[in-house]
Amino acid sequence: MNGGDLSVSICPIVVRPYVPADCEATIDIFLRAIREVASKDYSQAEVDAWAQVDDREEWAQRRSSRPTWIAERNGVAVGFSDLEPDGHLDMMFVHPDYQGIGAASLLLATVEAAATARGLSRVFTEASLTARPFFERRGFAVLVRQTVEKRGRTLTNFRMEKIIP
Ligand SMILES: CC(C)(COP(=O)(O)OP(=O)(O)OC[C@H]1O[C@@H](n2cnc3c(N)ncnc32)[C@H](O)[C@@H]1OP(=O)(O)O)[C@@H](O)C(=O)NCCC(=O)NCCS
Repeated sequence: MNGGDLSVSICPIVVRPYVPADCEATIDIFLRAIREVASKDYSQAEVDAWAQVDDREEWAQRRSSRPTWIAERNGVAVGFSDLEPDGHLDMMFVHPDYQGIGAASLLLATVEAAATARGLSRVFTEASLTARPFFERRGFAVLVRQTVEKRGRTLTNFRMEKIIP
């Protein structure tokens, strides 16, 4: 076992509810995940239009306005997701330094458990080109490929849903 494997086993990822003190960490994760990860699927102009937080107060209010969860490793926030009352999963972002170690998988399992507990029949999202394979491998189906406008740029994403058994 190499050192990386050891540190993963010693420092598992845990998911906990968001608290207002997490606001800046979620902004950092959001911006860096787009600029350093989603940027492989979107043009620089698209990334520039998407990776912006115009109003930090509004961002903070949104995060606190619905159940939001933080994935944490060794006390560091590494990802976040949420669930709106109608089953809409609005955010799923993982810090570039913590990709591929199961943070989003654990967040999604948490979101789905919360949806089940709330009696929802489905979870739906607008997945990026980058996140589409992640959601597909976890049982989400593409409803439609769509374009959305962000700050004057048109970006492609996919409306996806998963029926909750
Ligand atoms: C899409 C995204 C959220 C996935 O996050 P992630 O934390 O890397 O995802 P996970 O680690 O849970 O899963 C990714 C892969 O790592 C693998 N993996 C590696 N180590 C793992 C571990 N210890 N436990 C679980 N999965 C692991 C998984 O098998 C998975 O592969 P698969 O999809 O082929 O099954 C992330 O890439 C991201 O932030 N992208 C940029 C922003 C973005 O586009 N967000 C979505 C907006 S809708």
